[in-house]
Amino acid sequence: MNTKPSTEPVIFEDLPSGVRIIKINRPDVLNALNMETLSRLNDVLQETSNNRKVRAVILTGEGTKAFIAGADIGEMSPFTNTKAVGFAKLGQDATKQLELMSKPTIAAVNGFALGGGTEFAIACDFIFASENAVFGQPEVCLGVIPGFGGTVRLPRFVGVAVAKDLIFSGRRVKADEALRIGLVNQVYNQADLLPETIKYAETICANSASAVAIAKKLLNEFSETMGRNYKLDSEAQEFGGLFGMDDQKEGMKAFVEKRKPAFHREGSAT
Ligand code: COA
Repeated sequence: MNTKPSTEPVIFEDLPSGVRIIKINRPDVLNALNMETLSRLNDVLQETSNNRKVRAVILTGEGTKAFIAGADIGEMSPFTNTKAVGFAKLGQDATKQLELMSKPTIAAVNGFALGGGTEFAIACDFIFASENAVFGQPEVCLGVIPGFGGTVRLPRFVGVAVAKDLIFSGRRVKADEALRIGLVNQVYNQADLLPETIKYAETICANSASAVAIAKKLLNEFSETMGRNYKLDSEAQEFGGLFGMDDQKEGMKAFVEKRKPAFHREGSAT
């Protein structure tokens, strides 16, 4: 990796083996994803997908504390419904690129992977995690729902019952539990995470790229037949529809003000 600290929100490095390491680089906010970062990530993923020299992709976060601590709550908090739908679609475009590109993709989860962090991890073909990794879908604690594909992809990883547990409760899942429920493939200590992930990616790079690409396409076809694109669009619309509601305003304001939210106590009647 370039030794000079970069101010770019997304940086990448190409290894001679054909492995590209893409890093989210906003450590001051635990690599939270704002619009600029998502746009840049989409551009980098598009170029990665078209670049024949890249044979495998690793997605990770700068630092040792966070992979991605979710969407940038401060930026997102005042979004209108329309802007929130657009924001969800920007995140979904990037997660779809990771899922559908012909090259294998591995999330090296080096710390907090909350909200969009878990959603980006589960868009990759594999998840390797450090021992301090923490997963979770805490959106309902903010008055919203997952918007980058969590309602569509999480059940495929862990089954509907566990997906409901995680999405309804917003609880955090540490690396050992994540391994037990089938969310992650491997757990390593922080120092070993990236070297071991690179080693695994290079194992795949040694195989036939075209055979791996076809195998990936076939394995992904299952999700296509389940109407994935339709479900993703519904998710983005529902995510956006919650913006401007009292609970969304209160949930995100409370995070910014570092206090617990005071949500309406009545249940939903619909
Ligand atoms: N959006 C914007 N800023 C975020 C962020 C997010 N998703 N997650 C963390 N940050 C910022 C914090 O506001 C803080 O900024 P500050 O130093 O200017 O106050 C900085 O990153 C460090 O976070 P902090 O909360 O102080 O670290 P912590 O170790 O006490 O807690 C987390 C770490 C990840 C548990 C906590 O930051 C958190 O809950 N983040 C939100 C996760 C979330 O709900 N994501 C889903 C969004 S839909």
